[in-house]
Amino acid sequence: MPVSPGIDATLETDDRLEEVFGRISAIMNEISGVQLPEAKIRLVRSRLRKRLRALDLPDFVAYAELIEGPAGREELSTMVDVLTTNKTSFFREAAHFDFLWEHVFPEIQERGDGFRAWSAGCSSGEEPYSLAILLREGLPGLMPPDVRILATDLSSIVLDRARRAVYPARVVESVPPELRGRYFRPARTADGEPAFEVEPVTRSFVTLARLNLMAPWPMRGPFDLILCRNVMIYFDRETRERLVQRFSALLRPGGFLFVGHSEGLANLDHDLHYVQPAVYRK
Ligand SMILES: C[S@@+](CC[C@H](N)C(=O)[O-])C[C@H]1O[C@@H](n2cnc3c(N)ncnc32)[C@H](O)[C@@H]1O
Repeated sequence: MPVSPGIDATLETDDRLEEVFGRISAIMNEISGVQLPEAKIRLVRSRLRKRLRALDLPDFVAYAELIEGPAGREELSTMVDVLTTNKTSFFREAAHFDFLWEHVFPEIQERGDGFRAWSAGCSSGEEPYSLAILLREGLPGLMPPDVRILATDLSSIVLDRARRAVYPARVVESVPPELRGRYFRPARTADGEPAFEVEPVTRSFVTLARLNLMAPWPMRGPFDLILCRNVMIYFDRETRERLVQRFSALLRPGGFLFVGHSEGLANLDHDLHYVQPAVYRK
């Protein structure tokens, strides 16, 4: 009989998360729109346990009291960082990049008046940098300021990573070797691991900013393309519907919204036209 599961079980019963889980998940939902149903209690426990230790708090009841009070403002933003899921990768969901190449780039080329995109929920930058690389490959004549990619996220931890634009070698494996050679240069992570850094011209396509999708948005459209992929999956139906309507208001007529392939817009009220899975057009 392994010892560690027994030890874990003791910690779980002592930490009093069950008593305050509803309060913690309500605060998380209010700030970020992210839903944390009861089924996520283990995940919340494993992610927030480090915060209890760092803050030297006896249990989650003390943690809930902290984040509900004025002294907990800073911790609230750390909590949101810790509880959001930031999984991403270069050229994730390749069908979107194929669609851009085959259908959107020819239109941009013909129109000849630049391209503006927004990666909403960009995590550590792989999504906007993939788009920048594809634009450089497909439309080499298009350079900033005629092309601009706004990339925003709620989490300052992932935005810092996006700003550094240094990715461990294993992360860059999903980039085809010829593109890796052209758009990255060898670097080291802070731990001295072999890594690749996005080269400066490609970086200059991307403007990073912290933005909570639940809050008012300071920027004005119109955008040719909005990517909000694998973000809305964590929101409830009303929040997703409102968000899609707000995205639509910022798209130019004929502009595109890309969502994650597991997040269709079925049953949501909006004025976008379905083009193909996870692609909508105004
Ligand atoms: C799973 S990642 C998706 C990254 C990328 N779009 C992709 O598909 O690879 C989801 C991102 O959404 C961000 N996010 C969650 N709630 C948010 C909110 N209310 N406002 C802005 N970003 C949010 C998270 O911080 C996280 O980085």
